[in-house]
Order: sequence, then structure tokens, then C-alpha cells
Amino acid sequence: MTHHDIALITGDGIGAEVLPPALQVLDAVGARHGFGFSYTAYDWSCERYLREGSMMPADGLDQLRDKDAILLGAVGYPGVPDHVSLWGLLIPIRRGFRQYVNLRPIRVFEGIDSPLRAAAPGDVDFVVVRENVEGEYSEIGGRLNRGFPDEMAVQEAVFTRAGVTRVLDYAFGLAARRGGRLTSATKSNGIVHTLPFWDELVAERARHRPEVAWEQEHIDALAAKFVLDPARFDVVVASNLFGDILSDLAAAVAGSIGIAPAANLNPERRFPSMFEPVHGSAPDIAGRGIANPVGAIWSAAMMLDHLGHPDAAHDVTDAIAAVLAKTDVRTPDLGGTATTAEFTGKLLELL
Ligand code: NAD
Ligand code: IPM
Ligand code: MN
Repeated sequence: MTHHDIALITGDGIGAEVLPPALQVLDAVGARHGFGFSYTAYDWSCERYLREGSMMPADGLDQLRDKDAILLGAVGYPGVPDHVSLWGLLIPIRRGFRQYVNLRPIRVFEGIDSPLRAAAPGDVDFVVVRENVEGEYSEIGGRLNRGFPDEMAVQEAVFTRAGVTRVLDYAFGLAARRGGRLTSATKSNGIVHTLPFWDELVAERARHRPEVAWEQEHIDALAAKFVLDPARFDVVVASNLFGDILSDLAAAVAGSIGIAPAANLNPERRFPSMFEPVHGSAPDIAGRGIANPVGAIWSAAMMLDHLGHPDAAHDVTDAIAAVLAKTDVRTPDLGGTATTAEFTGKLLELL
């Protein structure tokens, strides 16, 4: 029987509430399709930081290196500054393992009323491809003259030819396999210096994919179009910060930030990839058992696909769709009254 060795980092807040449902789903679908998982759990979190002074051990990445994949809940919680928790755990994994593609699909499921009139079920089904290791999230810069009148903060956005090219090639390839359309998020109207370079590289890589129809949109106008006409998108490629913002916006268009999944991919498979919901640790609802597990479960389905089980992955997304379309079992963020456990129970029933 095929066996996958998965690293489990539940992290903070609702991470510990949404990952167990994802594991139940993985085990159920594995049993049906004839493969299994072993999980190694790591307690790396803000709690660990408060106890031991670091988010993960110094050899943390080495402990993960040989895993088939990493499943992560969320990182960051009040009591530990975000820059400490994120630069201490989430970002080192993404960078250390060259997970330079952050794949974030979005669908309006049947049975969900999008807050937007223009977003009907079935019409909205697109993917944000987010550059995940450089761009605006650079390590170059800092805070100067703290506490003085001339205090300032600077950060250099870093766009490299190699880094932009590889994520664009991934996005064009994905568009070729999907609906054949690609939208590039930019801001190149003479203000931001890095994005005209991004645009040039988009035009260059497009020549290698004549079958893909592509366009570029300024990020501000694009944000408006996500709201006004989300059905027009197929694959949207964006820099690190733009992709971060667009994927939360897309999740909201589809009804809730609680449903959106993410795959942090190292497409060459030299390193393990990491799967995590788009949302964070949700301190405002943590501990109440009402977090929506769909983002985590859908992320687990993306992991199945990555591990070579596309049929099992489809079973999982079909089961998510079936609970939403055929029952009124849903968590409060989608207007229901179900707990995380009740939703997961119904999903396992339909699986
Ligand atoms: P958040 O995503 O945690 O929460 C935003 C809002 O969405 C909250 O009102 C929350 O209750 C709601 N929400 C999120 N997930 C939900 C779910 N599954 N079901 C129902 N409702 C859900 O974002 P935030 O409040 O900006 O950040 C909280 C902490 O999480 C911060 O420390 C932040 O840095 C961290 N964070 C981590 C990640 C990650 O690990 N990838 C992602 C985003 C934020
Ligand atoms: C995400 C999160 C992270 C990001 C934060 C927590 C650093 O918002 O995964 O979307 O911006 O990459
Ligand atoms: Mn985000």
C-alpha cells in the first residue's frame, strides 16, 4: 500500500480545530482508494515561543526535509508579535523549501449565496497564482531612528528575472491546462519601478504559450473587477503582496475566508510542498469549535493531488460541494449554526 509521510504543524488558534477534520477526511479517502498516511506532529507555535523562546528548533527545516508534504494550520497569535511568529516559522518554510508558487483556487459552491450579485455558483472558478518567496516580502530593509522625529521604515521590493520567470511559467502552464486565460496583476503606470519589469517578463513568457490568451490589469482596477465580475477570471498571477490581498478578496467573494485553500508548491519537487488554508489563526473565534474546516480540508485535497491521487482529491472536493449544495449544514461564517465537528461529520457521511 502506498504510504505518505506527512509533517503536521497545527500552529496557533483555529489551526488545531481545522486540521483534525482534514486528517479524518484524508484517512477516510485513503482507506477507500488504497493508500495511507503517517503523521509526525510538531508543536511549533506561539505557545512554544513563549515557553522556549523560538517558534521552531534551529534544525526545524532539516526535520521536515524528507517528508512527502507538510500540512499547516495557521501561524500567529496575540501575545507574540506577528513579525516574530511569521519570520520564525511560516516564511522560513516557504523560502527554505523554495515553495515559490502559492496556488489559491476559489469557487462559489452551489448552495452558497455569494455576497455579490455577479458571483453565481458554477460561474466563479478561478485560481490565484501568488509569487511566494520574493517581491514585496523582502528581507532587505529595516526601521531606522526609532523614537526620533526622523524615524522611518524602508523595505526594498525584490523582483528577480529567475524568480518571476519561474512563477509566470507555472501560471501560464496552469492556464494552458485550465481555461486558457491568464490575468497578470500589475501596477506599472509609471509609479512602481518593479512592475514594468514584471510586465516585460509576462510578455516574454507569453510568447512561449501562444495558446494562452493573457491580459494585464492594474491591481486597483483588478480588485474592483474581482467584485464586479469575478466570473471572468481563470488564472490570475500576482506578486507576493498583491496575491496575498487578492486571495482573501476572492475568498470573500465566494462567501467566506474560511473556505479558501492554499498549496505552497516547490514544483521541481526538490523539497516538500506545504498545504494550508488561506485564513489565519482567527483569535476572535478560536476555542469555540465553530471554525469552518473547508479551507483546511480543501488544502488537504490539494495535497492529495500533489501526492499523485487526483481521484481521491476529487472525491474530497465533491464531498465539500455536496454538503454545501444538498444540506443546510454549514458553519456560522456561511450563515449556518453547525459546529466544526458537525460539518465534518456530515462531510464524512457523504464521502
Ligand atoms: P484571520 O484569517 O485569522 O481572520 C480574519 C477573519 O476571518 C476573522 O474574523 C476570523 O474569525 C475569520 N475566519 C478566518 N478563518 C476562519 C474559519 N476557518 N472559519 C470561520 N471564520 C474564519 O486573519 P487575521 O485576523 O488578520 O490574523 C490573525 C492571526 O493569524 C495573525 O497573527 C496573522 O498574522 C495570522 N495569519 C496567519 C496565516 C497563516 O498562517 N498562513 C494567514 C493569515 C493570518
Ligand atoms: C497568508 C498570510 C501570510 C502572508 C502572513 C501571515 C505572513 O496572510 O498566508 O496569506 O501574507 O503570506
Ligand atoms: Mn493572507
